[in-house]
Amino acid sequence: MCGIVGYVGPKNALDVIIGGLERLEYRGYDSAGVAVIADGQIRVTRAVGKLENLKKSLEDAAVPAVPHLGIGHTRWATHGKPSETNAHPHSAGKVSLIHNGIIENYMTLRADLEREGCIFRSDTDTEIAAHLCNRYISKGLDLFNAMKAMCAEIKGSYAFLVIDERYPDRIVAAKNSSPIVLGIGAGEMWVASDIPAILGSTRQVVILEDGDITEVRANTFRIEHDGKEVERTPMTITWDPVTAQKGGFKHFMLKEIHDQPQVVTDCVRGRLRQDVGSVELPELPPTLLKEVQRVLFLGCGTAWHAALLGKFYLESLARIPCEVDYASEFRYREPVLDARTLVVAISQSGETADTLGAVDVAVKHARTLAICNVLGSSLSRKVESTVFTHAGPEISVASTKAFTTQVLASYLLALVSAEQRSMINKAKLAEHTHAIALLPMAMQAAVATESSVREVARRFQTARDFLFLGRGLCYPVALEGALKLKEISYIHAEGYPAGEMKHGPIALIDDKMPVVMVVQRSPHLRDKAMSNLREVHSRDAQVIAVTDTEGDKELRRYAAEVIEVPFVSDLLSPLILTVPLQLLAYYVAVLNGTDVDLPRNLAKSVTVE
Ligand code: M6R
Repeated sequence: MCGIVGYVGPKNALDVIIGGLERLEYRGYDSAGVAVIADGQIRVTRAVGKLENLKKSLEDAAVPAVPHLGIGHTRWATHGKPSETNAHPHSAGKVSLIHNGIIENYMTLRADLEREGCIFRSDTDTEIAAHLCNRYISKGLDLFNAMKAMCAEIKGSYAFLVIDERYPDRIVAAKNSSPIVLGIGAGEMWVASDIPAILGSTRQVVILEDGDITEVRANTFRIEHDGKEVERTPMTITWDPVTAQKGGFKHFMLKEIHDQPQVVTDCVRGRLRQDVGSVELPELPPTLLKEVQRVLFLGCGTAWHAALLGKFYLESLARIPCEVDYASEFRYREPVLDARTLVVAISQSGETADTLGAVDVAVKHARTLAICNVLGSSLSRKVESTVFTHAGPEISVASTKAFTTQVLASYLLALVSAEQRSMINKAKLAEHTHAIALLPMAMQAAVATESSVREVARRFQTARDFLFLGRGLCYPVALEGALKLKEISYIHAEGYPAGEMKHGPIALIDDKMPVVMVVQRSPHLRDKAMSNLREVHSRDAQVIAVTDTEGDKELRRYAAEVIEVPFVSDLLSPLILTVPLQLLAYYVAVLNGTDVDLPRNLAKSVTVE
C-alpha cells in the first residue's frame, strides 16, 4: 500500500528519501510527504498528487541546512480523502510520524485524546499515533519507550516510523502486519517498507518481524520483541531492482495473486467482530439496508462477475430481490428506479467511464452505494456511501485481488443486510464470521496449488479454445476464469452455466477443447456438475476440474486433471476456487510469451466510453 523510507547518515536525507520514494512510485499513491531534522528542528513538507509536487514544495520551503535524518511517505488513502492535511507525516508536539496500515480502534483513542485536549488536524487514523507518542514523551518516556507504550494501545496493522527533535540522531520503528526492512550501510542506515526503496544503496537488509520495535542510528540498531532485545540476522539481497519492485515475483499479476491471503484479511479488518459473532459496516447510513426493497448491482468486466456473486449473497442471506446489469448497458435502457431501490456500483478503480455514467443516472432516482478499492475516486464521490475493499494498489491490468475483495465486501454487505432485516439469527451469523476468519488460510492453500496448476498449463498451453463451466456460485467463477485467460493469453475462452451447455455449446466439444469445470462440494450442485462433466467427458473433451472437495474419486475418474482447494463454506468457496483459475491463466500466458501485466489493447482503467 503506502511507501515508507527513512534515512540516517552522512548524506542529504532529503535526496535519499525522495530517491527511495521514487523507486516505490509503481505501487500507486495519492499524496506524499517528508519530515527531516535540520538545524535541530523538524521540518515537515507534504503535497497532494505526484512526488513532483512534493519536490516543488520542498524547493519553495527551502530547508535551512542539509538534513542527515528524516522520514518520507507516499500515501494510499484508507482513512480520510487524499489531501495535503491527510498526507503523512503527522505531527504532535516535537514528534513526527508516518504509518502504513489501519488502526482499528482509532475512534476510541481519538475520543480519549480529544478529551485530554489534543487538537486533530486531519481525518486520518494515523494522527492519533503521533499524539500518543507525544503524550508518552511528555510523561517522561524516551522515544523508544514511547513507541512501545503507543503500540500497546493500538489494535490493527502498522508499520510506524517516528522521529523527535529531542532525539535528533535516531528513527524508531515498529511493525505489525505491515512490512519494514532495515538497510544496513557503513555509517548509514535506511528504514523502508519495501526492499526496492533501498536496493540502489545497500544489499544488506534485516527484515523485521511482527511485534518488533527498533531504534536505528547511523552506526547501530537494536531490536526489541516482547520486551527483550533480539538479534535478527542480516541477509544479502540479490534481486535486480525491477524484480524487487514486484516483491521478487516475475509479474505484478503473480504478486497480486499471492497478495490475496493478506488482502482478504485487510478487507474484513475492523468489520468482523468475532468475539460477538457479528459484522459491521459503519460507513453505511444506519437504516439504508432496512429501507430498500430491491438491489441493482452495476459493474464492468471482473466487477460485473463480482456483482453476480453479490446478487447471490443478498438474495440468499437477506432475501432482497436483486438484479445485475452491465454498467455500459444500464444507462441506455430507461431503467426503472425509485427511492426504494439501492444501486450498488462495483469498481476497482472507481474511474471506469461506463460505471460512472450509469451512476450519474442512478443517483437521480435511487439510493446509491459503491464497492470500490480507491479512496477519493470519482465513483466514491458520486454515491451516498462506499464500502472500500482495501485490496491495495492493483497494478496488473488483469484484475485478481480486486475481484476477491469485491466478492468479500458483497458478502459482508449481505450479512449486514440479513442482520438488519432479521433474516439471520445470532448462531448462523457467528457461523459466517467463523468461516470468514478461516478464509486467509484457505486462500494461502489455494495459492499453494501454483506448481500443480503450472503443470496443467504446460499440458494445455497450445489449445486454441477453452470452455469454463460452473453451476450456481461457480458460474461467475467460470466467467471470471474465462475472462482472465482471454485477457492475458489471447486464447478464446468462454464461460458458461454448466446446465446450459446442452442447449448449444455442447456442439463445440471435441478432443481438442479443454473444459475447465468448477465443481463445488454442496451435494446438490456437485451432483448436477458431475452429470455435466460426464456429458463432456463422453464427447472426448479433456476436463480440468477445480474443486473444493478432497479426494473425490468419481471426479478423478472423469477429469484429466483435478486441482483441489480447501473448503471453508459454500458461500465463500467461489473466492477460493477462483485462485487456481487466475494461476492457470497466468501460466498459460507466460508459456505463450505474452505481456502478462500489460496485455494488448487493454487499459487498467477504461476511462472512455
Ligand atoms: O476499475 P473497474 O473495476 O471499474 O474495472 C472494470 C473492468 O474494466 C475490469 O474489471 C476489467 O474487466 C479487468 N481488466 C479484468 O481483469
